[in-house]
Amino acid sequence: MAIVIDGIGELTTNDPEIGRLTDAAVVLDGGRIAWVGPSEAAPAADERVDVEGRAALPGWVDSHTHLVFAGDRTSEFAARMAGKPYTAGGIGVTVEATRAASDEQLAANLRWHAGEALSQGTTCLETKTGYGLSVVDEVRSARIAAEVVDEVTFLGAHVVPPGTEPESYVDLVCGEMMDATADLVRWVDVFCEQGAFDEAQSERVLCAAAARGLGIRVHGNQLGRGPGVQLAVRHGAASVDHCTYLTGDDVAALADSDTVATLLPACDLSTRQPLAPARRLLDAGAVVALASNANPGSSYTTSMAFCIATAVLQMGMSVEEAVWAATAGGARALRRDDVGVLRPGARADLQVLNAPSVTHLAYRPGVPLIWAVWRGGIHPM
Ligand code: NIG
Repeated sequence: MAIVIDGIGELTTNDPEIGRLTDAAVVLDGGRIAWVGPSEAAPAADERVDVEGRAALPGWVDSHTHLVFAGDRTSEFAARMAGKPYTAGGIGVTVEATRAASDEQLAANLRWHAGEALSQGTTCLETKTGYGLSVVDEVRSARIAAEVVDEVTFLGAHVVPPGTEPESYVDLVCGEMMDATADLVRWVDVFCEQGAFDEAQSERVLCAAAARGLGIRVHGNQLGRGPGVQLAVRHGAASVDHCTYLTGDDVAALADSDTVATLLPACDLSTRQPLAPARRLLDAGAVVALASNANPGSSYTTSMAFCIATAVLQMGMSVEEAVWAATAGGARALRRDDVGVLRPGARADLQVLNAPSVTHLAYRPGVPLIWAVWRGGIHPM
């Protein structure tokens, strides 16, 4: 059944040929975009939705979350707000709670958060394992994630579980654990940071992933300068995420590569780190994505609108750059061309704001602006 969404006051398409339109319409059919253009030329459809001058744009592509988890870390957050630094040490608390949860509890928690994200306009969601850290717990995390989200990443190399010798844990991740999860995931990630995995260990993880034909991504330069960015670029990773502490060489390497710099402003704020240098990256020519990093420790939000408002108000990004980074940028970080864009053939993932322009995302921070969402042509709300 074809639906025409008509009366769009401002339409952001992210398609370089179509550009941004005013007085526009979009036709959805069979889960795909069938037509995009001026209202006056819109073809007839089975159903017409008049959005009365509101702004429409692609749904958010949230390319970095950790939502297969159980438990709560409110007290760690409160201690941090009282001055205790974030060290990623709390990951162990979530690992314990996740291992103790049933499959049903983990799946319900993931579905709840995925629904929360969708209700805020996120129509394409990535999530990671990484709170299991044993073969059995990583496999079940990957299986549960694969049932719920669009993109699944194996992050067995999140931290070394307590009581385990680091090199033998890397052997396990690169061997039995990766073999057991490979059919359930598209991506492999590694947390390359002091206190997690060093450069050589991270490199082993990336090589093991590439040898199995899996895509690679890296958590890098989150808590200090380090080898993560250069490693990601050298290995042709789809993205390197965090990028909070960058040298000039890191910026230049990203600008000269296809590796997307995925910035996580909600995490930088929640962990009391400086905000990632978005402007430097953009001015150098790097491709920047914005993602929520939703997880119970360092960034417990699924709000992409919050990330956009922060990027504009505090990180020197224009509204247009931030919106692109949270849609097409996320799609680039996931190496997808069917989401984050409104053009014929793309997935029918669209959001309508209760506002006349995307500028309101930063102009009205913290205000829920979603008026309607379609995902794969389905109108869940
Ligand atoms: O991306 N950096 C490592 N992993 C997560 C944090 C996970 C946690 O603290 O539970 C992140 O920030």
